[in-house]
Amino acid sequence: MPMPMPLHTPRPRLERLRADHAPALLAFERENRAFFAASVPDRGDAYFAEFEARLDSLLAEQSAGVCHFHVLVAEGTGEILGRFNIVDVTDGTADLGFRLAEKATGRGLATTAVHDLLTLCTTTYALTTLHAAAATTNTASRAVLTRTGFVPTGEEVMLSGKRGLVFVRELTETAAR
Ligand SMILES: CC(C)(COP(=O)(O)OP(=O)(O)OC[C@H]1O[C@@H](n2cnc3c(N)ncnc32)[C@H](O)[C@@H]1OP(=O)(O)O)[C@@H](O)C(=O)NCCC(=O)NCCS
Repeated sequence: MPMPMPLHTPRPRLERLRADHAPALLAFERENRAFFAASVPDRGDAYFAEFEARLDSLLAEQSAGVCHFHVLVAEGTGEILGRFNIVDVTDGTADLGFRLAEKATGRGLATTAVHDLLTLCTTTYALTTLHAAAATTNTASRAVLTRTGFVPTGEEVMLSGKRGLVFVRELTETAAR
């Protein structure tokens, strides 16, 4: 179990993914691999072995406008505390996914980061609708989605063998605030 972050650290900031985030991003993925694997599919050994090449291809997708990747960066240290990704952008619609370092959970950081991302989606990325999916057992993820205005569509999906719910968030100038 990692040491939780001190309570009074400055608010981390959301940054668009860049090549120079690579070392901090790899450290984040390594340190939290077991934590993530308890809720979402493990990335597999190949992901870590081919980390640089995969990051290059993500950045190429981002340059093409298909995805918008973000990292949540600790003030001062540059440590990466989370990832908040918009993928599969098509005609103003896209999918949202996120993960937060275990030591940074339970403080509302994911909720705040999704709120910030919703603002970017309308002001910068010209998106009108976001979708997300969470396993029915992933209470924390469902709480984050509900608090940020996502509503269940009623559709169910299988997420690596687990029952999952699909959520939607319509983005309007006022709704994203
Ligand atoms: C999901 C995740 C991003 C949440 O991050 P977070 O910063 O802790 O989220 P927030 O603090 O903004 O909100 C989570 C809420 O869910 C609650 N929660 C967390 N685990 C819970 C549980 N097992 N049962 C009930 N509520 C729970 C938290 O207490 C919090 O509510 P509160 O502020 O009223 O206490 C983080 O746990 C994570 O990265 N998990 C692993 C990867 C993952 O599941 N990603 C999402 C895939 S869909």
